[in-house]
Amino acid sequence: MDRPKRLVILGAAFRATTPFKSEQGMSQSKKYRSSHWFGPTDKGGFIHRSWTKNQGYPDHLFDGRPVIGICNTWSELTPCNGHFRKIAEHVKRGIYEAGGFPMEFPVMSLGENLMRPTAMLFRNLASMDVEETIRANPIDGVVLLVGCDKTTPACLMGAASCDLPTLAISGGPMLNGKFRGEDIGSGTNVWKFSEEVRAGIMPLCDFQEAESCMSRSAGHCMTMGTASTMASVVESLGMGMPMNAAIPAVDSRRYALAHMAGRRAVEMVHEDLRMSKILTREAFENAVRVVGAIGGSTNAVVHLLALAGRLGIDFKLSDWDALGRDVPCLVNLMPSGKYLMEDFYYAGGVPAVIRELGDLIHRDALTVNGKTIGENTANAPCYNRDVIKPFNEPLVKQGGLAVLGGNLCPNGAVIKPSAATPELMQHRGRAVVFETIEDYNARVDDPNLDVDESCILVLKNCGPRGYPGMPEVGNFGLPEKILRKGITDMIRISDARMSGTAYGTVVLHVAPEAAAGGPLALVENGDFIQLDVAARKLHLEVSDEELTARRARWQPSASPFNRGYYKLYVDHVLQADQGADFDFLVGRSGTEVTRESH
Ligand code: FES
Repeated sequence: MDRPKRLVILGAAFRATTPFKSEQGMSQSKKYRSSHWFGPTDKGGFIHRSWTKNQGYPDHLFDGRPVIGICNTWSELTPCNGHFRKIAEHVKRGIYEAGGFPMEFPVMSLGENLMRPTAMLFRNLASMDVEETIRANPIDGVVLLVGCDKTTPACLMGAASCDLPTLAISGGPMLNGKFRGEDIGSGTNVWKFSEEVRAGIMPLCDFQEAESCMSRSAGHCMTMGTASTMASVVESLGMGMPMNAAIPAVDSRRYALAHMAGRRAVEMVHEDLRMSKILTREAFENAVRVVGAIGGSTNAVVHLLALAGRLGIDFKLSDWDALGRDVPCLVNLMPSGKYLMEDFYYAGGVPAVIRELGDLIHRDALTVNGKTIGENTANAPCYNRDVIKPFNEPLVKQGGLAVLGGNLCPNGAVIKPSAATPELMQHRGRAVVFETIEDYNARVDDPNLDVDESCILVLKNCGPRGYPGMPEVGNFGLPEKILRKGITDMIRISDARMSGTAYGTVVLHVAPEAAAGGPLALVENGDFIQLDVAARKLHLEVSDEELTARRARWQPSASPFNRGYYKLYVDHVLQADQGADFDFLVGRSGTEVTRESH
């Protein structure tokens, strides 16, 4: 029987323009990793090409050109990343234009606002998804599409353990929230409004109206919360294109950046510009200083420690303090200041901040666009000096995150001075202790709770192992009877994290955590605690003898998690001062897999 004429013509035309080149299927001069899948003319090569072609890819895409994996954290369950399929399309345009072969793949997405008990519990799981998907597949270079808080560190960590040429594109912040003529910021105004409702200042109907006014476009939190901080970290590490952090998610220039990043990813493969060539100790030092200058989230500490661990870079919690201590906070954004990310973009974004930091930045650190960070920012303009302050007239003189020591946190704790109350930075107070978050919820608003504003609130068992997952509850609210006096801040201490959008005199990440038997577990109601941020001290005024006696009486809680991922997490998570990564994920394994699947 004759074949239909139309198909014959199509097939001939197709073959004429897309010949296989050789035994290895290569038309390019270099042999990339993906050619071990798509190059051979044997059974294996047939299988790899044939099934892939069912998506409509023509022969010439298998000619040995670089395959760029687009690692997409899109999910409707992660609203901050809900526009990522559109971003991926623009990345693909750039990859095709530069002669690459884009292949998009999904990985576990982590939505900060929906996941229980906390998205942080799953950061390491998502990083494993990223790492193993890259390693198992014919990928030569990677574009990471990241946005909501944990998606950025998860993707960077997983990709770092493979160490291919990789760049990250952040999804961009939402437009400024607008409520009754005022700018309102993601998270920051939620905490503020909710305290006002509890204090009887704001009616519930106003609170509900603010919901739609706050999140009015695609994008992630538009305060300098964790997502904006990590997007700025991507840029200051050199892992993202200039202006990666600040362009709003709905601005056409976000999509032009994605297009150019796609082009660049192909070039990076040609240049063999791997992550380990960019993520050096100097790059981490740059990121720490930028986090200080932008008034960035305390969450950056655990994420950068974990990322450094994947790369084997000698970078410790104490380095944060040494490097960041004298960095002035220049960026006037919520929660430390008053503006939002849209304003930050119009003012000049991260490049303007890096230029302002002068010699505090290692200017010869390499970035993904092939230039140094100094070259990228040498002429970066600043268009609004109220949003990005001059180095000599900062928003806060010492804006870096402070790392505390002392007998209550022998392995460290973290506080963000720019978001704290100056008068409380040196304070001695009586401890009011909550053993768990449930204990806190049950008693905090009890009129009979023995507390006044001079007290220090202590919350236990919210660390990596104790919660589990180290949730963002460290900025737990003040007792209602304190709020009704018009008091808006008290010292709070916990082994938890706090949202990057939050504020207050909040000591976080106490290590070791209570559930691991740290001294935090031994604090009792009525103990006195001294906080002295200038001296970097957090001291529990209890004698060593008494602490030894309390330790002898202390019993760890039996873990209720006997199976599945929760058990893996509790059994293997490291403490906050080590980035809360899994002990078995520290380091990298490269990408070689020698065995075939069939
Ligand atoms: Fe996704 Fe804030 S909830 S960035």
